[in-house]
Amino acid sequence: DMEQRERWATKIGLILAMAGNAIGLGNFVRFPTQVAGNGGGAFMVPYFLALFLLGIPVMWVEWVQGRYGGKYGHGTLGPTFYLMARESLKPRSALWFGLIGGALAFATTTLLNSYYLHLIGWSAAYSWFSITGAYYGKNTAQFFSQYLSNHGLVFLFWGITVVLLGIAVGQGVSKGIERWVKVMMPLLYVFAIILVIYVFALGSPLGQPQWSTIKGFEFIWSPNWGYLKDHLWKVMLAASGQIFFTLSLGMGIIQNYASYLGPKDDVALSGLATVSLNEFAEVVLGGSIAVPLAVAYAPKIVPPDVLAKGSDAALAWISENFGLGFSYTSLPNIFVQMGTAGRFFGALWFLLLWFAGFTSAIAMYNYLTALLEEDLGIKRSVGTWVVFIIYFLLGIPVVYINGYLDQVDAWISFQLALLALFDIIVSVWLFKPDNFWRELHEGALINVPEFYKWITVIIAPIFIALPLFGTFTDLVSKTLGWPAKIAILTMLTIGAIEAYYAIKKKYGEELEKNEVIIKV
Ligand code: PHE
Ligand code: NA
Repeated sequence: DMEQRERWATKIGLILAMAGNAIGLGNFVRFPTQVAGNGGGAFMVPYFLALFLLGIPVMWVEWVQGRYGGKYGHGTLGPTFYLMARESLKPRSALWFGLIGGALAFATTTLLNSYYLHLIGWSAAYSWFSITGAYYGKNTAQFFSQYLSNHGLVFLFWGITVVLLGIAVGQGVSKGIERWVKVMMPLLYVFAIILVIYVFALGSPLGQPQWSTIKGFEFIWSPNWGYLKDHLWKVMLAASGQIFFTLSLGMGIIQNYASYLGPKDDVALSGLATVSLNEFAEVVLGGSIAVPLAVAYAPKIVPPDVLAKGSDAALAWISENFGLGFSYTSLPNIFVQMGTAGRFFGALWFLLLWFAGFTSAIAMYNYLTALLEEDLGIKRSVGTWVVFIIYFLLGIPVVYINGYLDQVDAWISFQLALLALFDIIVSVWLFKPDNFWRELHEGALINVPEFYKWITVIIAPIFIALPLFGTFTDLVSKTLGWPAKIAILTMLTIGAIEAYYAIKKKYGEELEKNEVIIKV
C-alpha cells in the first residue's frame, strides 16, 4: 500500500537540506582537530581512502534505504530495516533487524543531540559575546568557564536555538525545513568564504615572519609519513570515524530526509552531490580557518614556556590542544588581537558554527518528530514540543556531570560505524545486492560503475567491522562511566521498544502468520 507522504518541493531545496544535514561542527571544528592531531597532511591518505571505500557507498545505501522506507510511509529505521530484511528472511527474523536499526538510530538522535545542541548554544552565545566585545580585556579561559557555570545563561542560548529548531520542524518538511535551509545554507557558504579570504589576506599579522597563515597551511598539509607509519591503526580509525561523522552516516537522518523523495527521484547523483558539497566545506573551507589563524597568532595563544622551546614545540602544542574548548578559549584571544575588526570576524566565525550546527540538528529533530508522527500518531505541531522536552532532559547531565560529554561522544563514534555496518547487512546483503543495485539506479541521473557494487558488498563492511572489534572492550571497560552507560542503555532500549511497536502496528498480521503479506 503506497502512502502519500510529504515531499521536498524543489530539487535545490532537497540538495541544500542534505548539504545542511551533513555540513556541521564536524567540518569546521572536528575536521581540523583530526588533521592536526593525526599527522597533518598524511591523515588525508586514509581519509580519502575512507571517503571512497566507506563514505560514498554508505551514503548511497542510506539514500536507497530512505526512499524505500518512504514508499511505505516510513521515515524511521525500525520499519525500514524490517521491510528490507524481509527480502531474505521470514517476518519474525526480519523483526530483529528492525529492532536493531530502530534502537541505534533512536539512541544516536537523542544522545548526540544531548551535547551537540549545547555546543550550538555556546556558538550562539559567543556570536553575541563577540559582537558586544564581552570577552575583550579578559582572560578568555576564565571567561569560558564562568559562562559554563552560569547555567541560566547556558540554557538561555540553548533554549533560543532549540525553540527555533522546533519552529522550523513544526512547519513541516517543504514549508519549514526546506525554506529555512534555502536561506541558511547560502549564507553559511558566504560566511565561510569571507573568513577564508580574510585568513589568506592576514599573512603575518604579528609582524613575525615565522608565524603566518601560510605556515598554518603548511602545518596542516605537509605530510608527516613517520607519524602515519607509527600510528597507522589509530589514524585509520580516526579517518573513518571522521568520514561517518561528517557525512551524517550511521545516524538515520540521511534516510529520514531521503524518505521524503518520490519513488522515482534520483538518489545516485544526489547522494554524490551531498558528499561533494560536504567535502568542499570540510577539506577546503574547514581546513582553512581555525588552524591557520591559530598558527599565525601562535605567540598570543601558546603558553610562554612552550613558546620559548621553539616553533616545533609551539606547533605541537597547537595540535594537542586544538579542539572544541580551543574554539571558545583560544580563538577569542585571536579575535581580540584584531581589535574592532575582531568583533566582526569573531561573530562571523561563531555564527558560521551556529548555522552549521543548526542545519544538522534540524535533521535529527525531524527524525524524532517523524517517529512520533508516523509511529505513535502524535501531530507534528505537538510532537516538536515533546522532542523539546526530551532534549531538555537529556541535556541536563551534559551540564552537570563532568566528563559525560566526552564519554557519550566516544560511544557515538563507535555506534555510527556499527549502524553503518548494519546498513550494509540489511540493505545490501539481506535485501540482496542485485535489488540494491537496481534500486540505486531507479530514476538515477548517473550510472554508477559496476565495481562500486563490489566495494559496497565486500570491501566496505570489512573496513567498517575490523576497527569495531578492536575498540569495543576498551570503550565499555575503560572509557564509559555509569551515567553514560545508563543513558546509552536506556536510549537503546526505548528505541527498540518503539521500533517493535511501530512494526507490530503496521505489519502485525504478517508477523502473526510469519509470511510476507504487504508488498509494493
Ligand atoms: N554531519 C554532522 C557534522 O558534520 C554531524 C551531525 C549531524 C551532528 C546531525 C549532529 C546532528 O557536524
Ligand atoms: Na559534515
